[in-house]
Amino acid sequence: MQYGYFDDQNREYVITRPDTPLPWINYLGCQAYFGIISNTAGGYSFYRDARLRRISRGRYNNVPLDDGGRYIYLRDDETGEYWSPSWMPTCRDLEQYTCRHGMGYSTIGSKYHGISARTRYFVPLDETLEVWQLTLRNDRLTPAAISAFSLVEFCLWDAQDDSTNFQRNLSIGQVEIEDGVIYHKTEYRERRDHFAWFACSDPLSGFDTQRESFLGPWRGWDKPAAVERGKASNSHAHGWSPIGSHHVKLVLQPGETHQIVFILGYHENPKDQKFDPPDSQTVNKKTVKPVIAHYRDLANVDAAFDKLRNYWDRLLGICQVVTPDIHTDRMVNVWNAYQCMATFNMSRSASFYESGIGRGLGFRDSNQDLLGFVQMVPERARERILDLAATQLPTGGAYHQYQPLTKKGNNDIGGNFNDDPHWLIIGVSAYLKETGDWSILDEPVEFDNQPGSAQPLYEHLRRSFHYTLERLGPHGLPLIGRADWNDCLNLNCFSDTPGQSFQTTTNKEGKVAESVFIAGLFVLAAKEIAAIAQRRGLDEEAKKYLAEGARMEETVRQHGWDGEWFIRAYDDSSQKIGSKECAEGKIFIETQGFCVLAGIGLEDGRARQALDSVRKHLATPHGIVLQQPAYSRYYLNLGEISSYPPGYKENAGIFCHNNPWVIIAETMAGDGDNAHDYYSRINPSARERISDVHRCEPYVYAQMIAGRDAPTHGEAKNSWLTGTAAWNYYAITQWILGIRPEYDGLRIAPVVPERWQGFQAVRKFRGVTYRITVRRAGKGNAVSMTVDGKPVPGAVVPPPAAGKTEVNVEVKLG
Ligand code: BGC
Ligand code: NOJ
Repeated sequence: MQYGYFDDQNREYVITRPDTPLPWINYLGCQAYFGIISNTAGGYSFYRDARLRRISRGRYNNVPLDDGGRYIYLRDDETGEYWSPSWMPTCRDLEQYTCRHGMGYSTIGSKYHGISARTRYFVPLDETLEVWQLTLRNDRLTPAAISAFSLVEFCLWDAQDDSTNFQRNLSIGQVEIEDGVIYHKTEYRERRDHFAWFACSDPLSGFDTQRESFLGPWRGWDKPAAVERGKASNSHAHGWSPIGSHHVKLVLQPGETHQIVFILGYHENPKDQKFDPPDSQTVNKKTVKPVIAHYRDLANVDAAFDKLRNYWDRLLGICQVVTPDIHTDRMVNVWNAYQCMATFNMSRSASFYESGIGRGLGFRDSNQDLLGFVQMVPERARERILDLAATQLPTGGAYHQYQPLTKKGNNDIGGNFNDDPHWLIIGVSAYLKETGDWSILDEPVEFDNQPGSAQPLYEHLRRSFHYTLERLGPHGLPLIGRADWNDCLNLNCFSDTPGQSFQTTTNKEGKVAESVFIAGLFVLAAKEIAAIAQRRGLDEEAKKYLAEGARMEETVRQHGWDGEWFIRAYDDSSQKIGSKECAEGKIFIETQGFCVLAGIGLEDGRARQALDSVRKHLATPHGIVLQQPAYSRYYLNLGEISSYPPGYKENAGIFCHNNPWVIIAETMAGDGDNAHDYYSRINPSARERISDVHRCEPYVYAQMIAGRDAPTHGEAKNSWLTGTAAWNYYAITQWILGIRPEYDGLRIAPVVPERWQGFQAVRKFRGVTYRITVRRAGKGNAVSMTVDGKPVPGAVVPPPAAGKTEVNVEVKLG
């Protein structure tokens, strides 16, 4: 069953009924001002940091689920009837409803009693504001007297404090109202130099800024007293809960259209120019007023929207494909790339599953995200890499996250994840392969943001590598530390206290528990850092890295192989995890995927065997589960993984993040049918027709789909902010379609299903547009290539002569 459809031409997902199984959201903003918006206009906004600069409130864990948002109310002033054109919060039976989620905007349209309303929400480029562009049309045969009310509830900036510290917060709210603009200035009188503002393009017939005056006592958003009586109360908030609401009265003739623009913005003043006059407590509005005036002009709003469209055309134009599979095309061309930009911007902070309070930018997460977005915003990727590296510790270890506003690492969600350092090598290598910008390696970068500690970025990579060499366990495998990629495999934790955090509680020092996953990651990192060293002329050093990598590979063969698959780890008493010897958790996905993609076992048959074991034990129609059998009870020596009921999350859920590791591994083993089959099982577009089972948005990946042990097998959760986005994009574009940036050029090495007769692609790479046509000539994956009509040996397209910006590549596959 479906709740909408893809409009591929317009790059929109069109939701055709408001009562989706879960809020289906989109993101507004792509630089500094951001918001999440659901298909019923729920959600909130923030400036840069979802925790520390929250502009508006949204409520998590509420009923209904999607509560608080960018609400508009319409009222028929003749009958007194009122409704929300976005359905929520009044939930009237709308005669028509569509929500079009597009690239950086959402348009919610509906019709009720002959009044059509369409609201386009977006954040103009280079601005710190959002626009709600409301178009009303009277489709009746008689004139209509209509009231429109806007509504935003302000957050008192720190979202954590806002939802907990009521003894203070109920007394600090402050606003100003001037010229119809509502200024939210809580804490501006003291240390803040920023405020929010909410403006309207039409003359007002009233306003409200105090929540209780707008709603009336004991009422919710579904029946505000101001809307019911058709009159705002011009309230001025002192403490309690400041809101912004404009009231506009209109008379629309039959067939008449009228547009109103509401603008919610964030503004900063220089510390010494906060007030006007300077000795007053009145907000200095000199620099914000021109911005407000600009966007009150409807022509400027349309121009800003066109600019936003061009921005996305450009980003998505970097890689476009036409394949025999529509689900592949729309994910690659539109939605997967778009989701990668969301994970770049948000990391794991703000979604309908991440409260914006919990997590900043993860070291592991953000480095992996680079794989998905580096081609679209290379300059910003560069900056991200340098920010991440600056939080690295002198030991080579890493803080697990940093806060975007301060860019300083912290241990708020734990530390000592021993896989972390290697992701920096993976991230930097992805950047170098895409851009060829070797200068980044010479960039001086501090350790732990300590002045005076700066070393070239390359030195950071060295330390990442050595971090593991200095932390090997009894079998010569890497010690796991707090956990590796699987945050929930907590082998040094032994927590028996209810409520204790597996992520932050003090662990055993841990000189025994080892991770075969980190071993695989290390082997891959060794190859990358060696390739980088070689190109820097450091041949001896490169040899050393390769030797260490080879040694680790040998250790994995000896101590990391279980006969039919790679084992997962050794616990604190050196017992195997992920082995046929175990009662539960006999086989795990991570090491099958990652060891093979690091190249282990490709030559001796183990890779194929491991992948066959995945198919036999872990693959389901909804994707590949994380391990089997699921843990049926809590194991003190395993930690959080066994805290989840069977089939959910890390306990045998389909953790979509690691499915692409197997997909890539299958391409390396040469099996395009298996690879694309697994790809399709979790591809959200391919799952659209089972939206009632899947329940999350059909246009973006979710972190998890419930595994076969779960009563709700096939149900997705935690959509949007997940490494799944980058890894799937990387797997389909670089390994299945095989258009792969390498240090020295663009490789074309497709491993596609045998039934595919070919495909086409346009890929922009280092300033050159490559037009690629692949035709199947035989069953295999061998490539023979002509470039601009001339045969070229190998599969790497030679960089064209200087000045040439277009290249035609024809590939015969077979
Ligand atoms: C989740 C993990 C997550 C971790 C850190 C765990 O509860 O299952 O997926 O990475 O918390 O927030
Ligand atoms: C989500 C985290 O963000 C990611 O870093 C981690 O690897 C997975 N959970 C698996 O536990």
